[in-house]
Amino acid sequence: MNTRNETTANGYTRKWWKEAIVYQIYPRSFKDSNGDGIGDLKGITSELDYIKGLGVDVIWLSPHFDSPNADNGYDIRDYRKVMTEFGTMADFDELLKGVKQRGMKMILDLVVNHTSDEHVWFVESRKSKDNPYRDYYIWRPGKDNKEPNDWISFFSGSAWKRDDATGEYYLHLFSEKQPDLNWENPGVRSEVYDLMKFWLDKGADGFRMDVIPFISKHQGFPNYPDDYDGRPEFIYAAGPKLHDYLQEMNREVLSKYDVMTVGEAFGVTLEQTPLLVDERRHELNMIFHFDVVRLDRGEAWRWKPWTLPDLKAIYSRFDKGLDAHSWHTVFLSNHDNPRAVSHFGDDSPGYRVQSAKLLATMLLTLKGTPFIYQGDELGMTNFPFSRIEEFDDIEVKNAWKAEVLTNQVSPDEFIAHMLKTSRDHSRTPMQWNDSPNAGFTSSSKPWLAVNPNYKEINAKQALADPDSIYNHFKKVIALRKDAPALVYGDYKDLDPANPLVFSYTRTLGTDKHLIVLNFSKDEVTYPLPRGVKAGQLMVSNIECNEEDVSLLNLKGWEARVYKA
Ligand code: NOJ
Repeated sequence: MNTRNETTANGYTRKWWKEAIVYQIYPRSFKDSNGDGIGDLKGITSELDYIKGLGVDVIWLSPHFDSPNADNGYDIRDYRKVMTEFGTMADFDELLKGVKQRGMKMILDLVVNHTSDEHVWFVESRKSKDNPYRDYYIWRPGKDNKEPNDWISFFSGSAWKRDDATGEYYLHLFSEKQPDLNWENPGVRSEVYDLMKFWLDKGADGFRMDVIPFISKHQGFPNYPDDYDGRPEFIYAAGPKLHDYLQEMNREVLSKYDVMTVGEAFGVTLEQTPLLVDERRHELNMIFHFDVVRLDRGEAWRWKPWTLPDLKAIYSRFDKGLDAHSWHTVFLSNHDNPRAVSHFGDDSPGYRVQSAKLLATMLLTLKGTPFIYQGDELGMTNFPFSRIEEFDDIEVKNAWKAEVLTNQVSPDEFIAHMLKTSRDHSRTPMQWNDSPNAGFTSSSKPWLAVNPNYKEINAKQALADPDSIYNHFKKVIALRKDAPALVYGDYKDLDPANPLVFSYTRTLGTDKHLIVLNFSKDEVTYPLPRGVKAGQLMVSNIECNEEDVSLLNLKGWEARVYKA
């Protein structure tokens, strides 16, 4: 569809990336084609019809670049080479060709806040203070034989590591194998722009940008301020030159292509959001904001229960805080979060299917480009971890060392927290069928254990069952594609304080949709607010014949979309 220069009745410029639905692939866990227990590019190519079948338009491929895998590919050793375990450049080209042949697009992961410590730039940089690459990274002398400041890494411990070769410290906001690049250096920026062009010229359709707000740092490297609340991302995301860099990147690269950009905006507040995504500023198209996926975290990110009014308040706050010049995303899970149905639904056998369908209905009818994480279309659930040895994630392993091995947290408390929050829940292999290891690999040893529930929850079952979660996604995706109001329409939460029911409208001109979601297993009699009527039922997750009514009888986890 040519959407150039068209504006909607409520002032949005139409863009393909606003109308698109994105499907995220974590290659390591998607499909293994060569029996080494690790997913690969050929595996993805072999399942493109499955992805296309859902009706999605864009694939976001998590990092597929050469990497020693300290952080599963988010530590890049060579930006122009494919990770050996994932295949070759020819496999990448074949994948991209298959994506385009099916009328889809593909965006790549741009990880340029840091590289691997095995990247040739860092190998050189650490050699001596006068090495030409020294200034590609952030080196500082120690203070009184200690770290230059009190910053901590997201993967536990100080964010500085002393390097023996020169006795200076380098900054790493993530693991010590992920040194931060020095964006103050114009040479670094031009290397980044070049590698972006390399992939865009190959035909990639844009980027998801990893922790992009962290690229600019206060050069004085002050300690945390006195009113520091224990959430370092809000300090790291507030560097002074972020917007200069993004505008330069836009000028040098992005403006020359018709691409989608989405920034992972950890540490960005609602107030700062338009600075990144207001189209008149020429920075990014949209960002991932973390309020929803961090809704159930309290002090020091410890798990706490969440409530529906709190969830609704986030969506309303964003809707009110962004005008028609800005665009947003909606996501409930990704490779850094627990499974959507375990997090926001009810993954017990009686309600898993219904609640996963309800979440799909919400994801696809809120305002913002929806991102589906692989396996959520099957209602894949969290993994029943019980021992530290079962985890792979560096974040978990480092936290275990820092918290449990120092006796600050008991092993039971640690595992209980990880059962709710670990990133590994969403990284277990895709469940394709009921054969050993869910058909993910022919190896008897997948890199991470397959969830034991794969015999019931798998793609083969989902494709054969017209009432499956996969087929529900498909229906709501088709509905969204037919209804501009579900993409661009104004959003109104009809009942913000209701603790069980989430009801909202999406309105564009005379086209109005009403969405009603029962976020509980209880049956709820729900009188619609005055002036709102449920008209024709467009989609539901439970058979229902209530139409043209103002009182709804909702079953547990029932979701309906009406023409209002
Ligand atoms: C965010 C990525 O999504 C996560 O997986 C990674 O560990 C960090 N950034 C560091 O790259």
